[in-house]
Amino acid sequence: MNSGGTLIAGPAKGPLKGNIIVPGDKSMSHRAVMLASLADGVTEIHGFLPGEDNLATAQMFIDMGVNIEWLNTEKTSLRVTGVGLHGLKKPAAVLDAGNAGTCVRLMTGVLAGQEFESTISGDASLQKRPMQRVAEPVRRMGATVDGKDGGSLLPLTISGGKLKGIHHVSGVASAQVKSCVLLAGLYAEGETLVNEPKPTRDHTERMLPLFGQPVEVDKNATIILAPTGKLTAPKDVVNIPADPSSACFFAVAASLVEDSEICIRSIGMNPRRDGWRRVMLDMGADILLSDERKVGQEPVADIAVRAGGLHGLRVNADDVPDAIDEFPVLFVAAALAGGEFVLKDAEELRVKESDRISAMATALRSVGAVIEESFDGARVQGAGHLKGGVDVDAFGDHRIAMAMAVAAQRADGEIRIHNASAIATSFPDFVSLAQSIGMNVRWQDEESA
Ligand code: S3P
Repeated sequence: MNSGGTLIAGPAKGPLKGNIIVPGDKSMSHRAVMLASLADGVTEIHGFLPGEDNLATAQMFIDMGVNIEWLNTEKTSLRVTGVGLHGLKKPAAVLDAGNAGTCVRLMTGVLAGQEFESTISGDASLQKRPMQRVAEPVRRMGATVDGKDGGSLLPLTISGGKLKGIHHVSGVASAQVKSCVLLAGLYAEGETLVNEPKPTRDHTERMLPLFGQPVEVDKNATIILAPTGKLTAPKDVVNIPADPSSACFFAVAASLVEDSEICIRSIGMNPRRDGWRRVMLDMGADILLSDERKVGQEPVADIAVRAGGLHGLRVNADDVPDAIDEFPVLFVAAALAGGEFVLKDAEELRVKESDRISAMATALRSVGAVIEESFDGARVQGAGHLKGGVDVDAFGDHRIAMAMAVAAQRADGEIRIHNASAIATSFPDFVSLAQSIGMNVRWQDEESA
């Protein structure tokens, strides 16, 4: 767990203004470095997110013999000399995913395809998160997975190599599970098929064809991978769009602070990631799209957000997987909207970097919001403003910390957000970018420096 680090935030001193671009997409950055490492040939990646989570994934491949050359000091551009599907070397030590669920779950699929044995682990938060959902399908494919509580928890020790394709009907709507199975499927004999209870982000399916590996989706929404036996580095550079999950914090802040107007450029608009915008529009937000285009295989657009009175909403269950990472900050929007906001069917929020239903309910209640938890969601009563002069805990979860920094913009005094250093896992520049649009937020230790 990333403990420590205190943010001091709010209230906003005036309208938020600016034209910004947020860093690269976290989900796509993980996948790009994985596929590039497993491909034959050299891949150049631009727009990579240099957050701790993605750097952990890159480091794993370095630890298994892949050459990664950083092309700038910010680590947003890199050149990866792939070793081919069968070229990874047994790592000398335990592979460390840090706080990154996507890293550990997708890597379980990759490691299941290796003939050597390896052990993968992570920080205290990741060691509490469920792993049976990936251990079970790769075992059925023929890999051996040992872990705490029968493979339910990290560390996992994995060996495989000779896999067979399976049809995995997933019990959870999880892109990490789907992607784990598809990546293991690259090493399998025969086709690998996946069905999910609701569609989830499809970055793996969109990116694999760039590396020469087709993925089909049939009329029953079954995802089918017939392994070609190799990945090939794309001729073109892989460009990663800006992360909608990061953009969302500023979009919500601009919606909430009177007279604000901001523009955020080049945001990923993949429909499976765009649920946050649909929820905000359904709450009455003023968000306009322009310059809709494609970056590689992914849709992107610029958005303009203006402050506006938000109202309550019963969230459509189909939007839930498409906004799963954005609910912490959507709860903030709900706490300041007129009327009642009801979220159900979102029990997955309880097994993220923290239990995000309970973490947000605790933090929002301390600033005076009315929020009632249910096992799979929450009911939030909107109010005009929040209470300042309060300490809240981000529970070592990056998205709780950033969501509460947004909430603080509408508080009647400063809010101190403790255990916020995990922001570095997904958005190291959050504070400086937030300051650039006029948000009132700073790290406490900047004061003594
Ligand atoms: C991710 C999938 C989602 C999401 C996570 C990133 C991915 O997790 O919450 O932040 O990149 O595949 P689940 O697959 O557990 O829903």
